[in-house]
Amino acid sequence: MLKIAVLVSGGGTNLQAIIDAVMTKQLPKVQIGMVISSAPTAFALERAQKCNIKTTIVSKKQFSNPSDQILKLLNENKIALVVLAGYLGILNGCILDEYKNKIINIHPALLPKFGGVGMYGHHVHEAVINAHESVSGCSVHYVTANIDGGKIILQKQVPVLPNDTPGTLAARVLIQEHLALVQVLKKLSK
Ligand code: GRF
Repeated sequence: MLKIAVLVSGGGTNLQAIIDAVMTKQLPKVQIGMVISSAPTAFALERAQKCNIKTTIVSKKQFSNPSDQILKLLNENKIALVVLAGYLGILNGCILDEYKNKIINIHPALLPKFGGVGMYGHHVHEAVINAHESVSGCSVHYVTANIDGGKIILQKQVPVLPNDTPGTLAARVLIQEHLALVQVLKKLSK
């Protein structure tokens, strides 16, 4: 059984996709051990609590270095894989060494383009539209010290339509994010 921790900061639709896949036996070898949120108000916490999944908040307000506290929790809970799903924090330090090739992230663009510092949420889709790209998508990649620079595991593409707004593009990409994340977890839990 692959015991995972899901790190969240917001609405948690990616978390919900994983929860649904586990509940419907699409991921029979994945167990969601815990959800860690950077924000106490994240709706993702409610999604987890509804399914009796252990939740913890690790925010910058509480901890000078959230990464160290997260690492402590991962070890205490014997977590094998960490999934960043809409997580807005930046992991650094020992956690990246101890969990090398055991932290994955879902990014809402076709890396290596449109990644790096500041490239999150609507900023990504704005940049894609402003660059007049005809194709966008999402990338699941390993997390390293180089933000959004880790080895890409899987990408899924969507068309960018002439009248797209960042919102309409984000919605199209998000659907593929959910599919990509479950597909990668299936592969990693074999
Ligand atoms: C999504 O836009 C996704 O691109 C990125 O984080 C955002 C929120 O995801 N990974 P979620 O709905 O909180 O899972």
